[in-house]
Amino acid sequence: MPTEPENAPPSSPPAAPGLGRRRALLAAGAVLAAGVGAAAGELADGDRSPGRAAATGGPPPEAPAPFHGARQSGLTGTQLPATKLVAFDLPPTSAAADREALRTLLTTWTRTLAAATAGSGPSSDPRLRAHGTTRLASLVGLGPALAARLGLAVPAGLAELPPFPGDRLDPARSGGDLLLQLCAADHWTLAVVAELATTAALAAGAAPRWSQSGFLPGTEPGATPRNLFGFKDGTANPDEDAARQWVWGPPGPHENATVLVYRRIRMDTAAFAALPEEQQDLAMGRRAGDGAPLTGTAEHDEPDLYAKHPDGAYVIPAAAHVRLTGPRLDGGARMLRRGYSYDDAPGDRGLLFCAFMRDPGQFTRVQDRLAARDALNPFIEHTASAVAYVLPGAPEGTSLGDRLWS
Ligand code: HEM
Repeated sequence: MPTEPENAPPSSPPAAPGLGRRRALLAAGAVLAAGVGAAAGELADGDRSPGRAAATGGPPPEAPAPFHGARQSGLTGTQLPATKLVAFDLPPTSAAADREALRTLLTTWTRTLAAATAGSGPSSDPRLRAHGTTRLASLVGLGPALAARLGLAVPAGLAELPPFPGDRLDPARSGGDLLLQLCAADHWTLAVVAELATTAALAAGAAPRWSQSGFLPGTEPGATPRNLFGFKDGTANPDEDAARQWVWGPPGPHENATVLVYRRIRMDTAAFAALPEEQQDLAMGRRAGDGAPLTGTAEHDEPDLYAKHPDGAYVIPAAAHVRLTGPRLDGGARMLRRGYSYDDAPGDRGLLFCAFMRDPGQFTRVQDRLAARDALNPFIEHTASAVAYVLPGAPEGTSLGDRLWS
């Protein structure tokens, strides 16, 4: 239940995304004037290292997470600086044949990804061996339509997202039956492993649907990476205790599984950069410099959404991004954000929003609020979207997806 103080709505609605720079600036000024008032996240793998500091904690270990474990490696280690998401469709034949094709593919991917993560082993690709130590982490997920079609054991809440105001989604970059996220220290590793995974997918009858690359800036170990607006992104990620409640499935078949919500969000970085710094900070509700909330002095201070200026205006404005996304509006619910930046063409750069949560309905609730009044709206446009059930990890001797068939 919402516990946040009532906010006066902004007196002018956010401008439609995709505006020209001048209009965006004017619109932003209006939204901000009406404001009356990433990550180096790391989660412990439940079974492998129960006491490990989570999310925004200390410096990450240098060793990559092993492939085999209770959770998939893409979420058990520190965020690696390069990513590639690859989506496939499994064209329908018969349910029985499609289930068999999926089972075969997941078994092959388990073998391929395990060998690639181990890097130097005899069964890994020679191009990876020649490249030295591989730092690879991976996530395999299944789209809601495939799960429904094949009657797979996935969480009841797994569903496509509803449309949101302002969405400009390109279907050719969205959705998919199977989603593979590869993260690595470099794009070479990503290219080789994506090729191996694609070869296996084609052999199983799957068809490539879209792929997307992303990157992080060089970041000190343990520090939060910045997005292309220049802000630290991933600061308020949940720790392991909160993640057990909000990110990972409950004890049972979905324990150590989660749901990925992916949004490709184009950002008008030049227009945002042209705002005075103070207005940028007001739009976010945090300071770009140190990532601290406007009501605090250090990055990890809790934003005080009740704090007001002497004139009664909120210090963190009504339309500020961190106010609208804060867990107080969702009964404390938190999502784990591990976003990446992308830069595909002049005028097409932004954020690959990758967030993990037990219940994708949480994304819908937050995005409903953002779409209505986020001060960032004049500068952003959602251009692609996908939802995937991220399978539990495959402990040694098992395959990804072993619990899907019951
Ligand atoms: C280009 C678009 C976006 C940008 C640039 C952006 C940037 C940021 C930044 C800088 C923060 C504050 C630091 C932090 O805690 O990480 C933040 C927080 C957050 N954002 Fe976004 N974000 C974007 C889109 C979204 C979307 C689409 C959602 C979900 C619908 C979202 C959900 C959140 C949440 C849940 C928080 C943490 C709030 C808290 O617990 O205090 N963001 N975002």
